[in-house]
Amino acid sequence: MEAELNPYHPGAGMVPRVLAGRSGDIDAFDALIARAKRFSPVRPIIFSGLRGVGKTVLLNRVRSLAEHHRFHVVQFEARPGDAGGKAARRELTAGFVKISARFRSQISKDLVKRMLGTVSSFSVSLGIEGVSLGIERDVTRASSGLIDLDLQDTIEDISRLLRNERSALMIFIDEMQELDSELLESLLTAQHFALQRELPFYVIGAGLPNLPTKLTDSRSYAERLFEYRGIGKLDDAAARESLAGPARQMGQTYTDEALDILVAEAGNYPYFLQEFGSAMWTVATASPFTSQNAEAATALGRAKLDSGFFPARWERATPAERDYMKAMALDGDAGSRSSDVASRLSKTPQALAPVRASLITKGIIYSPQRSFIAYTVPGMANFIERYRRLLED
Ligand SMILES: Nc1ncnc2c1ncn2[C@@H]1O[C@H](COP(=O)(O)OP(=O)(O)OP(=O)(O)O)[C@@H](O)[C@H]1O
Ligand SMILES: [Mg+2]
Repeated sequence: MEAELNPYHPGAGMVPRVLAGRSGDIDAFDALIARAKRFSPVRPIIFSGLRGVGKTVLLNRVRSLAEHHRFHVVQFEARPGDAGGKAARRELTAGFVKISARFRSQISKDLVKRMLGTVSSFSVSLGIEGVSLGIERDVTRASSGLIDLDLQDTIEDISRLLRNERSALMIFIDEMQELDSELLESLLTAQHFALQRELPFYVIGAGLPNLPTKLTDSRSYAERLFEYRGIGKLDDAAARESLAGPARQMGQTYTDEALDILVAEAGNYPYFLQEFGSAMWTVATASPFTSQNAEAATALGRAKLDSGFFPARWERATPAERDYMKAMALDGDAGSRSSDVASRLSKTPQALAPVRASLITKGIIYSPQRSFIAYTVPGMANFIERYRRLLED
């Protein structure tokens, strides 16, 4: 089929033509908006799941819903390390400044004046230069130099104003598991405070499956602070629709058998479905797309994954990390006990701790629970097993 009309979009954060199987999550978010507008208490939402299940596109979708309801939003992606921490603080401040600037023309109102003064102070407190909201900073607010207190003041003063406007402040954080502990704790404290004071402030996060544990390790009340929604592979009907829907929009169809083959091959996994759908579009010359086309498409799709998606992870690993990954691969996608991996490598878990930590930092593996370790993408173990020999050459 014509390449420029290919309706499948495999790639990080790429918006699918059909966001299949997420209506429950979107309904939950709609319910949050409805309650927030009525000042009814409601827990904000955390989405967690493996790489490529569609967390980023879902987060973007619910953010646009929030904007549609005239909620004020700040969005950023957390990144590891010092540079990531600084960037997060800059983006947070820039978001607050942008929101407050929208109200500058109403400076005669007390709540607006107060918010502008506080946000000015917050930016000074965080050492962010060049912020001018046309008002003196309020030295009694957000001026302690301690991010948890200053963030709380700022969120309080913004959301008090927004409450009056029947609006809300929402902070959307992708890759939330990467947030540094200082900022994470401050955001959790602020969220806790806002819920107690019935202020319309909500942190909406997305991240790897270890994110919920990370939040509860940080503040034990985080367990009850959020609604946790696991984002996983699609059910069969949704997986089929993620393939058939985009084709239908282009006037093309699949046979049932072709859909059976692609869905099974992709393991109902959103990123793979996009990759196999895209391959189908490439190999087929006419529709309905047949099972023969599907066989050719899975071969092409698999070759693509085996030459890009999986090796990209392998190549980022050092020789010691590769040994660790190979020892893990014996357990498949379900994951391994760190102690089993260590004994296979005839080492102690302590000796391997730096290797394990570095693979986690690189986003290749994560710890689903204490003492366990798993790949962040499905199919990695199988890839390593299949290519073990080739890779070793
Ligand atoms: N519900 C869905 N229906 C169909 N396709 C989807 C769906 N969700 C995501 N996709 C597709 O899957 C791919 C991965 O999506 P996305 O980047 O949002 O995943 P992610 O979970 O954020 O991954 P990562 O952890 O690597 O950031 C994209 O190509 C996207 O178009
Ligand atoms: Mg993502």
